[in-house]
Amino acid sequence: MIKLHDKYFESYISANKLNTTIAKMAQLVYKECADEIPLFVGILNGSFMFAADFVRAYPGQCEISFVKLASYQGTESAGKVKKLVGLSEDVTNRTVIILEDIIDTGTTLEEIYTIFRHKKLKQLKIATLLYKPDVYKKGLHIDYIGLHVPDKFVVGYGLDYNGLGRNLSDIFTLTKPTMTNIVLFGPPGAGKGTQADVLKDKYALKHISTGDVFRYNIKNETPLGNLAKSYMDKGDLVPDEVTINMLKQEVERHKDANGFIFDGFPRTEDQAKALDTFLAEKGATINGMVALEVPEDLLVERLLKRGETSGRPDDQDESKIRNRFNEYQNKTAILKDYYAQQGKYYGIDGVGSIEEITERLTKVFDKL
Ligand code: IMP
Ligand code: MG
Repeated sequence: MIKLHDKYFESYISANKLNTTIAKMAQLVYKECADEIPLFVGILNGSFMFAADFVRAYPGQCEISFVKLASYQGTESAGKVKKLVGLSEDVTNRTVIILEDIIDTGTTLEEIYTIFRHKKLKQLKIATLLYKPDVYKKGLHIDYIGLHVPDKFVVGYGLDYNGLGRNLSDIFTLTKPTMTNIVLFGPPGAGKGTQADVLKDKYALKHISTGDVFRYNIKNETPLGNLAKSYMDKGDLVPDEVTINMLKQEVERHKDANGFIFDGFPRTEDQAKALDTFLAEKGATINGMVALEVPEDLLVERLLKRGETSGRPDDQDESKIRNRFNEYQNKTAILKDYYAQQGKYYGIDGVGSIEEITERLTKVFDKL
């Protein structure tokens, strides 16, 4: 799943499928006008990719030109079209074949058709890669159709959503993320658990604390739990595969959840990628990584204090705590970059009262 502006899209027609479709179209057109040199006219901007691939697949000689005429502003046809610009060729007595990326209501096509009809062509034909039969309102015959698509907004392969998505090789269709998923991030003792408890109720999300999931599995001596235990006792991170499988199990246990707050997971880039893949299968994504930023000395202080009451052996020994920080620094800080690159990183000042920090987090959660 990908995000363009405020909307989510999922892959719908693969680049491969587009390729074979276009090759077939080019062959068919060639068969019907092999004894002349047709002038293909691509309608910009949307048809630039289709036109390029189409003429590359066209077995004979041809000319190509582009004209511009735009009718779209958002995800709905605006109903109004602009003027045609850019045609410098003499089209008298020529076979002109219009190359359209998509025909929706047909308004654009009709305008173009009308303009060409007044020129003294030999013949005018229309080829479109995509066609929406449920929305097409015009009587005009379309000579070559690549693929029929339902009345759904699509992007990619030249088609855009408010300017974005034209460069994608596949065609994508609008989708709704079914869940909101947040990675709550920060070093041990940053207050993730405390904040997650408040936020999960406020936003009706399921809180998955990796530590709790581990302790549950260990306590019940599940195979994954026994494996994880040996690593945790040393203050080391559990290998990715074990962790990922445990987390997957936990997500699967809550099929009806609105979404999850992941706390303590992912901790490595491999885990983050595994999580993305896993969520994508469910039509979901990570909406954001929210990180609590707290200075290390304050953290050690907090953890030793927690160790007095929590009974967790890894909270009672300062060297074990420092070891966890090293692990954190060495391996997990990379994740900040991973999510930042996708525009999904939100750093939060984690020093202050619980309420103050909750308020800072709420401001970010509201946006996600
Ligand atoms: P029509 O005039 O309603 O047939 O719309 C034609 C133009 O609208 C196309 O050339 C595209 O630029 C745009 N368009 C129609 N449907 C879509 C879509 O699903 N995604 C992106 N653009 C579209
Ligand atoms: Mg177009």
